[in-house]
Amino acid sequence: MNNIPATIADFEEYARRTMSPGAFGFYIGGADSEVTLRRNLEAYNNLLLRPKVMVDVENVTVATTILGEKISSPICVAPTAYHALAHHDGEKATAKACATVGTCFCQSTNSNFTMEQVASSVPKEALRWFQIYVQEEEDVTRKLVKDCEKAGFKALVVTLDRPRLGKRLHVLRSGFTLPKHLSRANFEEDKENDGSDSYYHGEMYPGMTWKDIKFLKAITKLPIVVKGIFREEDAKLAIQHGVNGIIVSNHGGRQLDSCPATIEILPEIIAACKGSRTEVYVDGGIRTGVDVFKALAIGAQAVFIGRPVLWGLAYQGENGVKQVLNMLNYDFRLAMTLAGCANVQEIDRSFIAPAERYSF
Ligand code: FNR
Repeated sequence: MNNIPATIADFEEYARRTMSPGAFGFYIGGADSEVTLRRNLEAYNNLLLRPKVMVDVENVTVATTILGEKISSPICVAPTAYHALAHHDGEKATAKACATVGTCFCQSTNSNFTMEQVASSVPKEALRWFQIYVQEEEDVTRKLVKDCEKAGFKALVVTLDRPRLGKRLHVLRSGFTLPKHLSRANFEEDKENDGSDSYYHGEMYPGMTWKDIKFLKAITKLPIVVKGIFREEDAKLAIQHGVNGIIVSNHGGRQLDSCPATIEILPEIIAACKGSRTEVYVDGGIRTGVDVFKALAIGAQAVFIGRPVLWGLAYQGENGVKQVLNMLNYDFRLAMTLAGCANVQEIDRSFIAPAERYSF
């Protein structure tokens, strides 16, 4: 890498050179042939931009809101497991960087620090969501929700697309498991890290259905965001079950392979949510400010980024995550400026067109 990272790929390259191959493979890999993983990245190139000129872009603001909470830009941090593989301060470092930049940090169920440890490392007002893997045993879920409320998280993000673990070839081939000195901190009382495969993936709950959303709604007043919806009918069911938000996600291409890219799914879900109060977000393959602009042009309220944050952590911990977020925010502001949008409300479908429109 050159001295100063200028793209997310530069941060990724640094992580590739410095992390252990097993941990790097765990972070970067997708499922099976990685069709979906690649498509998440490539689909953005099938959308082209139609800038407006002669617009006053002297003052461009990228600030927005999610579920009524102010954020400094629509670029938020997706839940990813085990940040301490990249840096010893793990999720505490990520949360601090998000707090400084003024965006939302979504902590994974499978984090190396507890919710309480993360909460106490940032100012009270820093916006944090908690991603929950609903557990087969109701009492375990109940405890996670209670801890989450106590630690001041502002929403529960329920991941729907992992009834069992996708087949991740990098991990199978390297035999990677969570190093013994790290744990799934939110389950400390549960059992020690015995270095086994099942420990670090956590318990799976393939029996999860919409009844579990009803259960969550009965035990908490926190807003509920569901993550990993692929089709209109499921989006409508989510709305019927009173969810406050949907993250259009295919788990970064790590679950069912051959799903469309998330940016390709987004229009269907936006259409299904039209007229409801449910907000729609998207994650997967977002690597530039232009990608963020395209997602908002289709109708996303905000985007979430996964791997780029891990590359920032591997680069320089908290400071590295700050650099990643600041770079994407800068690039997004630049994209808005060059496209002729002074605030995020002005970004609409008129700014994008499928690449076919420009073929001869
Ligand atoms: C994830 N993702 C994920 N999602 C979730 O709901 N809970 C989790 O614990 C994890 N863990 C996790 C670990 C790693 C290493 C990766 C790469 C991803 C999925 C994540 O929230 C998000 O959907 C994708 O990472 C988005 O894609 P990009 O930005 O990584 O391309």
